[in-house]
Amino acid sequence: MARIAIIEGDGIGKEVIPVARRVLETVRPDLEFFPVEVGFGRWERTGVAIGPEDIRAMKEADAVLFGAVTTPPDPEYRSVVVRMRKELDLYANVRPVKGGDADLVIVRENTEGLYAGIEEVGPDRATSLRVITRKGSERIARFACGLAKGRRHLTIGHKANVLKADTLFREVCIGVAEEAGVCFREKFIDALCLDVLQHPRDYDVIVTENMFGDILSDVAAYLVGGLGMLPSGNIGDRHALFEPVHGSAPKHAGRNTANPVAAVRSAAMLLDHLGDRENTGRIEGAIGQAIASGVKTRDLGGRAGTTEMGDAIIAALGG
Ligand code: NAI
Ligand code: MG
Repeated sequence: MARIAIIEGDGIGKEVIPVARRVLETVRPDLEFFPVEVGFGRWERTGVAIGPEDIRAMKEADAVLFGAVTTPPDPEYRSVVVRMRKELDLYANVRPVKGGDADLVIVRENTEGLYAGIEEVGPDRATSLRVITRKGSERIARFACGLAKGRRHLTIGHKANVLKADTLFREVCIGVAEEAGVCFREKFIDALCLDVLQHPRDYDVIVTENMFGDILSDVAAYLVGGLGMLPSGNIGDRHALFEPVHGSAPKHAGRNTANPVAAVRSAAMLLDHLGDRENTGRIEGAIGQAIASGVKTRDLGGRAGTTEMGDAIIAALGG
């Protein structure tokens, strides 16, 4: 029996994750869930945002379903999300963007780049070191090529014209793609951000480094109705964590207005990871059916609340 760690986190994480859990319980009553509490709320209450015992609990789970956490822009506060990704070595952040003219997957390197955590804040000068390694580039390139092999082609997004670090990323990605026999092209990341909106059909799998992938996926959310729609998987060789691309959206928190679809889709990706393709497809179908029947949250132009949207998805599942 698979054991799933559930981390609601902060803000709308506390509203969208319970919906995603209900959906999982509907299609897979055999799953076992256990809660893990991390985030800003816990930090405010106890002075600790995440501890080693939480990392241990996540490692013991077959997969983790995560909401979002609030990260204050405070130089003393260490990002919980960055720590989880590093400690579980979740090096591939997979962000499918599917809907309308788009059917693409952003594969973002998840452990280094500008989010490597090598930083210094002085009174007059602050630096964040952007780290690109051969090993990090190789494994993300391999992951992306593995995906691209079962699909159409690969685009390597980089800024090697300006950033010396990207010359290594580019060289390694090209080498891996050639070796794997994957059809590829490259594009500068800034131009790519616009082009993906203008010509989404030209894109299939996109591989890029950490911060570029972070920005590109929020940009690409525009193609499918916004951040409330985009799921993601953080995948390593031994562990996997699934979460909506969006954050804790404090403005929506506690108001039953957040769109739960990104979280529900993340739960579907979790099932896919566990090898349950059938229920992944069923959940995607139920989301489509619920929206087509006119049940939409405000970000999609409707009036439904978070829980009503969840009810409609579960009803479409026959639950
Ligand atoms: P955000 O993604 O939380 O929200 C940006 C805007 O997108 C919201 O104001 C809202 O208009 C819209 N939005 C996002 N999710 C939505 C949903 N499910 N339904 C309807 N509308 C939605 O990003 P923001 O405002 O930059 O960050 C807020 C907090 O979240 C920060 O503390 C940030 O650090 C954190 N964050 C956490 C992430 C994580 O835990 N993985 C990822 C991104 C941000
Ligand atoms: Mg982001």
